[in-house]
Amino acid sequence: MVQTPQTRLDEYLLDSPTNSRFSEEKFILFLEGITAVFDGFKALDVEALGIEHNELRVVIGPNGAGKTTMCDIVSGKTRPTTGTVHFEGQNITGIPETEIALMGVGRKFQTPTVFDSLTTYQNMELALPGHQKLFPNLYSQVSTEEDDQILEILARVGLTDELDTEARYLSHGQRQWLAISTLILSSPKLLLVDEPAAGLTDAETELTAELLLELKGDHTLIIIEHDMDFVRRLDSFVTMLHEGHIMAEGTLEELQQNEEVIEAYLGR
Ligand SMILES: Nc1ncnc2c1ncn2[C@@H]1O[C@H](COP(=O)(O)OP(=O)(O)OP(=O)(O)O)[C@@H](O)[C@H]1O
Ligand SMILES: [Mg+2]
Repeated sequence: MVQTPQTRLDEYLLDSPTNSRFSEEKFILFLEGITAVFDGFKALDVEALGIEHNELRVVIGPNGAGKTTMCDIVSGKTRPTTGTVHFEGQNITGIPETEIALMGVGRKFQTPTVFDSLTTYQNMELALPGHQKLFPNLYSQVSTEEDDQILEILARVGLTDELDTEARYLSHGQRQWLAISTLILSSPKLLLVDEPAAGLTDAETELTAELLLELKGDHTLIIIEHDMDFVRRLDSFVTMLHEGHIMAEGTLEELQQNEEVIEAYLGR
């Protein structure tokens, strides 16, 4: 791949001739030579991508650019055709999804995954580490600390009044926050958030941005988003994917002045 000045490839490379091409202290996640080929079609081709500890990284790009595929590869849902995924200094390529989750990678899918027939509180209960196999409320074993934690997280997203509401009656925004809240319960080190603002009202979008910015202190976040107002609000470093490649990286302002980026995505 041609090394373009807009990406961070130079920054990753270590001067010293060590085994590693990048600093494991600096990056919680590092993708190295990752490709994903589906039936001969290369959906993703990322030479190098590093995410720093407690960074909030935004990933943008047109439909089909490979954004979700990249999340699939990090979370272990999809095995890359080539390349290595390093997480906290470990090679996690090919490790089963459930194990990667236990290692501290949480994920919110493009469509929020909450259980419709369970209440807000029950959804949280089920998401408690170690509670997955229990039927909620049958033999409820939520400790006082866990209960406090649940209530604290739900207060943060304004769901305190909806504890006993079945998830099916929540608004789209509330469902998104519940999905994010269930993720927070497992204290993931890295959170992959796919299109959190899709279909939200302006007020809901604002609250979602606030919530994600708040999480930044305790977690590393990768947020995929199409809504440029939302991206601007997150005020973070942006990676743009196009046809599986990293086309450019920088602040949103920098990308908005990049002719190639405007041509491929922002100007459309
Ligand atoms: N499991 C799969 N099998 C075959 N093709 C796939 C698979 N997963 C993704 N693709 C293809 O890879 C390309 C990238 O898809 P991906 O979902 O990663 O894009 P995206 O950037 O998330 O797009 P969007 O903004 O629409 O969500 C698309 O052409 C898609 O059809
Ligand atoms: Mg997608």
